[in-house]
Amino acid sequence: MPKMINLMVACAENRVMGRKTRLPWRIPEDLRLFHEETAGKTIVLGRICYQTWPRAREDGRRLIVITSDPSLEREGVRVARSVAEALDIAETMPGEIYVNGGERIFGEVLALSRPMRLHLTLVHADVQGDRHFPEWRHLPWRELYRRESSDENFRYTFFILER
Ligand SMILES: NC(=O)c1ccc[n+]([C@@H]2O[C@H](COP(=O)([O-])OP(=O)(O)OC[C@H]3O[C@@H](n4cnc5c(N)ncnc54)[C@H](OP(=O)(O)O)[C@@H]3O)[C@@H](O)[C@H]2O)c1
Repeated sequence: MPKMINLMVACAENRVMGRKTRLPWRIPEDLRLFHEETAGKTIVLGRICYQTWPRAREDGRRLIVITSDPSLEREGVRVARSVAEALDIAETMPGEIYVNGGERIFGEVLALSRPMRLHLTLVHADVQGDRHFPEWRHLPWRELYRRESSDENFRYTFFILER
């Protein structure tokens, strides 16, 4: 049995999740949850996500970076050339698998027919940006968890969905 894949994302109602290689907002509660939830896990992520996440290698995370640049390999960082190769490597490593983007990687993983859990922070706003989370609403999810929250700028809901 392959391991359960977890996808973790914060996206707006219009599916925007990034702008100019950064997050399109600063939501401290979501950032805190993201760091806590991914600590100690095996993380699959694209090169830009890796290069723009300064704390990626901290807190016991084991990283698998999808890139054509093998020179990024170092202690705590494996390199894979494709999603399939990254998931094969992840199967051999301890701990749960967390996929943290970006856009193409989320798309390829959501298209797989294997068990997965989506840790979604849905930000209740339409936001401008250039990276989108792929459409997920039509897939047959079962809702495991939901919590609403807000700060001075946004209302948002934390979901855990499974299929
Ligand atoms: N809100 C959120 O939760 C969230 C989550 C994730 C990302 N984001 C946002 O999304 C943006 C970053 O994501 P991104 O989509 O631009 O970039 P990315 O996926 O992090 O990095 C793109 C690079 O990764 C490699 N790559 C990606 N998919 C690949 C595939 N299927 N096969 C082979 N190589 C692949 C390529 O690397 P090489 O060029 O080195 O070959 C590609 O140039 C940022 O704005 C970030 O803030 C937001």
